[in-house]
Amino acid sequence: MVKSVAAPQAKGKSAEDKIFGANNRAVALSEKLGADKVINGTVGSMLDEDGNLIMLDVVQKAYKALTPKEIVAYAPIQGYPDYLEAAIDQCFGESRPEGYIRACATSGGSGVLHHVIHNYSEWGDEVLTSDWHWGAYGSMCNDNGRKLREFELLTPDGHFNMESFKANVSDMVAKQYNTVIIMNSPANNPTGYGLSDSEWDEVLAFLKDVVKGKDKNIIFVSDVAYLDYSGEKHECRKFFKKFGNMPDNVLIVVAYTCSKGFTMYGQRMGAMICVTPNKDIADEFVAINQYTSRATWSNSNSAAMKVMANICKDPAKVAELDAERAKYFHLIQERADLFMKEADECGLKYLRYISGFFITIPMEGSQKVCDELEKENIFLVPLGKGIRLAVCSVSKKKIHGLAAKIKSTLDAVGAKQ
Ligand SMILES: Cc1ncc(COP(=O)(O)O)c(C=O)c1O
Repeated sequence: MVKSVAAPQAKGKSAEDKIFGANNRAVALSEKLGADKVINGTVGSMLDEDGNLIMLDVVQKAYKALTPKEIVAYAPIQGYPDYLEAAIDQCFGESRPEGYIRACATSGGSGVLHHVIHNYSEWGDEVLTSDWHWGAYGSMCNDNGRKLREFELLTPDGHFNMESFKANVSDMVAKQYNTVIIMNSPANNPTGYGLSDSEWDEVLAFLKDVVKGKDKNIIFVSDVAYLDYSGEKHECRKFFKKFGNMPDNVLIVVAYTCSKGFTMYGQRMGAMICVTPNKDIADEFVAINQYTSRATWSNSNSAAMKVMANICKDPAKVAELDAERAKYFHLIQERADLFMKEADECGLKYLRYISGFFITIPMEGSQKVCDELEKENIFLVPLGKGIRLAVCSVSKKKIHGLAAKIKSTLDAVGAKQ
């Protein structure tokens, strides 16, 4: 028996994250053999065509211009007002929805998810997300005594699986007071899927309807971690408009983060943004989430908030930011297009990709395939029902030939697609 002094609810927790594990092995190997000998498709950060981690120029300059006070001061628990305004503006752009909109600073998008689970679901509740989802959702639920439940994201022909979504939501609404739903769209991690205009309309109309006249609530979390690389700036934000005019018992919480859009991953800066027609619910949103921030990490990172707010105050810097994002959005699209073209040529199936950092290759036996690929210095992330390839971090040169390699390995180990 392994000796343990952990409290009962903490016993057996273990944080061996498959993604960071594979990444660590890839990094160690490329230090040994040279970066050109290793394909590291595990990292959820943007790397340039030479394999260097990208930090946007406009963000680098803003960091260098910070004053000592901006760097080290304790910020207000809710976040600096100029940061919160900038986060709301950056998030919604031209498509700001109607209603009361309030924001609280969080530790990245992860902080938003933590606070929503903690404050809007009860101990023992289920929280709903799609079967294809970011693995941390499950840990966040378990760590808070909740259970993650999954609906099927896609139909066999690659569209949003409305039937599965509706059936799961209806069942949960029947059983629970609050139903928290996490929807990672656009640029879903790990598939790259995003809801279409009409799919959004149907989802939101259904949510209104399913709690109509009931003393039940839906808390709909729109996780937009990859928003800034999901399409043309205004076009990809249009769906936000639809979040206005929901009833009191459908609270929208947008999980906004500076991790990707500002390449500030390690700075841990995000914001939770609510949209509601009811002032009391908006006030309560700020009160309870600010309280939870105080009770967990306290204040957020001052320097990160100031960098972001200082960029957003200056239209010339915002233009620079937009241009840099557009450049990298196109680079990622080119890599994804190349992979999909070669996958089509060799008969490797992948899930419908629209935009974002990842492409998913569905299969049974993903672990075996990844283990084999590692022997050839190719590092990918095995998921329950497939393999995740980070097109944000693999150069076009290295993507070339990768689909065929995956296909031959898959065939060699007898994995099924
Ligand atoms: C789907 C999804 N949501 C949210 C996040 C939040 O990241 P962070 O806490 O770094 O903002 C990530 C990061 O990988 C993600 O993949």
